Amino acid sequence: MNILAIESSCDDTAAAVVQDGRTVLSSCVSSQIEMHNLYGGVVPEIASRKHVEAVTALAGRALAEAGLAPGGLDAVAVTYAPGLIGAVLVGVNFAKGAALSLGLPLIPVHHVRGHIAANYLTHPDLEPPFVCLCVSGGTTAIVDVRSYTEMSVLGGTRDDAAGECFDKVARVLGLGYPGGPPMDKLAQGGDADRYGLPVAHVAGAPLDMSFSGLKTASLNLIHNAQQKGEALDLPSFAASFGRAVSDSLVPRAVAAALERSYGRLAVAGGVAANSRIRSDLQAACAARSIRLFLPQLRYCGDNAAMIGCQGYYEYQAGHTAGLDLNAYATRDISLG
Ligand code: KG4
Repeated sequence: MNILAIESSCDDTAAAVVQDGRTVLSSCVSSQIEMHNLYGGVVPEIASRKHVEAVTALAGRALAEAGLAPGGLDAVAVTYAPGLIGAVLVGVNFAKGAALSLGLPLIPVHHVRGHIAANYLTHPDLEPPFVCLCVSGGTTAIVDVRSYTEMSVLGGTRDDAAGECFDKVARVLGLGYPGGPPMDKLAQGGDADRYGLPVAHVAGAPLDMSFSGLKTASLNLIHNAQQKGEALDLPSFAASFGRAVSDSLVPRAVAAALERSYGRLAVAGGVAANSRIRSDLQAACAARSIRLFLPQLRYCGDNAAMIGCQGYYEYQAGHTAGLDLNAYATRDISLG
């Protein structure tokens, strides 16, 4: 089964063709980062317009690279939630048009389910059930993946997402957008014990997290140093920040994996590319005999191959939509 998949939930327009869920025939991404970098973050209206400009040609390229004519497709899958609403709508409307004109089923895919499915592309032997730590610019959640299409949130952030926190702190340091990669690079060689940054605990909810205090403490530290004319040790600050984020995420993800007893923990989303988080997870899982699954770096960030993969399993479960499919800015992962 060949699925054309479309992803446009934030600042990457992506199209892919995926065969039988796990074989990526093509995966094309058109990034808008240069444009948003001018403003220090994603400007939703610009994102929507750039998706409109890119989506048709990108879908054509995905077909060409897959060596398929439109007649070789069996379904169209699309991210329909969550994301910037105008941006998601562009992909949803393109997918509806493609499904209608080609007479194909339309498969709605939850963006975070797609991020989780990136692990199936990297690890052919991975099958549910497992626990997945989902960390991106908009999401920070620990998900119980009971089956390919049955999932629920075990814990998550009460305020900011971890990626958003990386982006805001990096912006104040003048590192550009997105901030995670330069912060990660800067942290190499820094002393992670140099600056004490807070790791929040949510009373009565051991798997929940909070990053707003870390963000405020980091911004205060930077501003205080600027006001006093003191030079921050930037590599050590970035390393201390990365450690604080990792100290929030890793123990909770491991605790959730132990609680569910699946013996498998996967990681998903753009922040899954962070080297400190990856190495802390590797050490923590090795110490507790939990098998850790990390997606390949090219499938950590937004892409459409992961949507085509999850779309296949949604289709197997009978989850298709009509042309009245709506887009949603927020939507619980358990709803599909
Ligand atoms: O999954 P993604 O591409 O888009 C969303 O669905 O949000 O994630 C983007 C987020 C951004 O906040 C970016 O700064 C962060 O992932 N990110 C990283 C790293 N690479 C990307 N954060 C920390 N370390 C990284 N190496």
